[in-house]
Amino acid sequence: MPGLQEPPSESASTSTTTGMAATTVSSHAAEHIALIGVGAIGISFLALHLTYTAARVSVFDPRPDLKEHVAAMLPLYLPTSPPGLGSEGKSSIEQLTASGRLRFCTSLREAVQHATVVQEQGPENMQFKQRTWSEVLRYVGASTHLWSSTSGIPASQQLAHLTATTGDLDLSEEAIASARARLLIVHPFNPPHLMPLLELVPSPSTSATETAFARSYFSSLGSIHRPITIRKESVGFVANRLSFILFREACRLVQQGVCSVHDLDEIVRASLGPRWAVAGPFQMYNFGGGVRGMAGFLDNIGEAIDAVWKDDAGDQISMDDGDGSGGWKATVIEQTVEAYGVPSAAEIKKRDRALKAVVKVQEEQAQAQEQGQMEQ
Ligand SMILES: NC(=O)c1ccc[n+]([C@@H]2O[C@H](COP(=O)([O-])OP(=O)(O)OC[C@H]3O[C@@H](n4cnc5c(N)ncnc54)[C@H](O)[C@@H]3O)[C@@H](O)[C@H]2O)c1
Repeated sequence: MPGLQEPPSESASTSTTTGMAATTVSSHAAEHIALIGVGAIGISFLALHLTYTAARVSVFDPRPDLKEHVAAMLPLYLPTSPPGLGSEGKSSIEQLTASGRLRFCTSLREAVQHATVVQEQGPENMQFKQRTWSEVLRYVGASTHLWSSTSGIPASQQLAHLTATTGDLDLSEEAIASARARLLIVHPFNPPHLMPLLELVPSPSTSATETAFARSYFSSLGSIHRPITIRKESVGFVANRLSFILFREACRLVQQGVCSVHDLDEIVRASLGPRWAVAGPFQMYNFGGGVRGMAGFLDNIGEAIDAVWKDDAGDQISMDDGDGSGGWKATVIEQTVEAYGVPSAAEIKKRDRALKAVVKVQEEQAQAQEQGQMEQ
């Protein structure tokens, strides 16, 4: 665990044996990350920063069980035998706090005051995001990087409320412009300590330097992370737009009795899952068209695709549908609970082992391809 020993030097990356594969630790020792909100995403980002950097991390979350929550969850996400730490969650947390790598804060002000990066993953609603940034801006310096993990509220909207006379904030036009230039969406895919994707979604006001900083931060972790810059703001960005449309169709198929929750999951695991772990839909369908590639695929399968697209029209489910006994939500929840119950620590570990194995295969493939290209 970086920081519990001598932190890596500013410029260097070092390798540590973690009990799993060797983990390369980037430095970022000069960074002080303030994590606002330490729920599902916050705890995973905490693990990411602690595992792959030497940055200090301050956390703020008003939940009364914060320390217990971190003590229960963080050890599940950290490497199995981090150097310098016991395998017991409790002593790990104590050592992290004693070493200065991790600091629990009792106010937002305390967490962000000397931060170089403020990363928020609090509740997903506009009021929370806007109120939080207003407060953060009272306490941070003019160069602090501002990151939001939001699943869908674009950066331009999170600071749209700021005017030179916003409440008692008393920000100048220059300070507002500077805040807008520094706010960037860094949208993870859950759990971010294991999933490669980080969607960097700048608003039209975000400066290119800020996007470049986040890109460099996550690219230099010596980990599996792959930041991708999204060119335009849109609701749900890219990965979630795809995921939520598929999820809507999955819920509708269950509601219509075409298949069960469990069978639908098995269908995805046996088809789209392995396929998309290897190549995205465009590259995969390009294979599907034989020698004519995508053009051949669209000619050959276009009619079947069109039949499904047209079948989709008109009777879609929505979140406003009643939750009553006949509603799709009740059906989906009942079948999901029946199939899986509530996720346990053992289930989380199982999921993480499998995700790591899939991502490892992807990494090996990419390396082999790179090597092949170099040898050509
Ligand atoms: N869960 C996902 O799959 C996922 C994926 C990507 C992005 N996100 C985004 O990350 C954010 C958090 O999602 P989550 O799933 O971790 O939610 P969560 O409910 O697990 O965590 C939110 C945390 O915010 C805390 N909080 C509440 N009020 C607060 C305040 N005033 N100050 C600081 N913290 C406060 C809560 O106590 C809670 O621990 C959301 O914006 C969400 O859209 C979630």
